[in-house]
Amino acid sequence: KKKVLADVDCGTDDAQAIMLALAAPNVELLGVTCVHGNTAVENVCKNTLRVLQVCNKLEIPVFKGAAKPILGNSISAGHFHGMDGLGDAPDPNAPAADLVQKEGAVSAMIRIVNENPGEVSLVATAPLTNLALAVKMDPSLPSKLRGLYIMGGNTESRGNTTVCAEFNFAADPEAAYIVLNEYNCPTYLACWEFTCYSKLSWDFCDAWLAQDTDKARFMARIFRHSIEASQSERCEKEFVAGTGFVSCDSYAMAAAIDDSFVLESDEYPVSVELAGTHTRGMMVVDTVGFMKKSPKKAFIMKKVDMKKFEQMMMASLK
Ligand code: BDR
Ligand code: CA
Repeated sequence: KKKVLADVDCGTDDAQAIMLALAAPNVELLGVTCVHGNTAVENVCKNTLRVLQVCNKLEIPVFKGAAKPILGNSISAGHFHGMDGLGDAPDPNAPAADLVQKEGAVSAMIRIVNENPGEVSLVATAPLTNLALAVKMDPSLPSKLRGLYIMGGNTESRGNTTVCAEFNFAADPEAAYIVLNEYNCPTYLACWEFTCYSKLSWDFCDAWLAQDTDKARFMARIFRHSIEASQSERCEKEFVAGTGFVSCDSYAMAAAIDDSFVLESDEYPVSVELAGTHTRGMMVVDTVGFMKKSPKKAFIMKKVDMKKFEQMMMASLK
C-alpha cells in the first residue's frame, strides 16, 4: 500500500481530501498532522477527529502542530469554511479533543518519515509551517520522502486571499519559501488557478451529497456554508473560470493516491515572493530559465483525469 501522511488545516476541502485517502484501497494513511490556517489549530485537530470518526478510522493518529506562521499572525478563512472550519455545523457526538496525540506534529512528521524511508507521500493542503519547521530540524527529511504533493500557490498571480496570493502561501509565505527551496524531492503542485479550471459541476455536487450514507450526510452538513459562500459575489470573482465547486485540496491528494491521475504537468523552478508591495506570498514560476541556480523544480499540474476524480470523490462518501 502507498503510505500517505496528510498535513491539513481541516476546512471543508481538507476534509474531502482526507476522505479520498481513507476510501482509497491502495492507501494507508499513516497519520494527520494539523496546522493553523482555515481556523485555529485546536479546531483543525477537532475537525480532523470528526472526519476520522464518520469514516470509522479514529485509530489514525492526529497530531497538533504550529498555531502561527513563522512570522506574524495567522489569518483564517472563516468567510468560506465557517469560523470553526467545518461550516459551523457542530456535532453533538464529536470525539473528545484529548484523542489528539501528545507528540507534536513536527516531531511526528520527522519520526514517521524516518521510520519509512523512501516510502511516504506527504500531502500538504495547508499553510506550510509544519513542513518548514520539520526540514529545519531534520534537513535530510525531504530526501527520505517518496514525493511531496502540495495544494497551494498560483501561476497567474491571481490571489484568493490577497490580490496576488493564494491562501496557503499567503498564510505563511516564509514557510512556503523554505519548502519550495529546500524540499529536494519530487514535488507536485495543485495551484489555485488550476483547481479553479478543474471545477466539479453543481449537478455532480448534488448527486455526490445525495448518497444515502452517514458520510454524505456529514459532508452535506459541513459543506453547506462553503456552497453558499461559493455562490457569493466575492467567491464568484475569486473563483477563476465559470461556475461549479472547487475541492482544491482533493487534487493534491488524488495525485498522491494515483500516479496516473495527473495527465499533464509543467516542470519549472518555483519560489515565493516575500517582499513586494502587493505580491507577498505570490508564487514565482520561472518559465524562462532565470533561476538556473535554483536547486528546486516542481511539477505544476495542468490537466488531470476528471472522470477518475469524480469516481474517487463519489467513492469517498460511500
Ligand atoms: C486553500 O486554502 C484553504 O482555504 C483551502 O483549504 C485550500 O487548502 C485554497 O486556497
Ligand atoms: Ca486546506
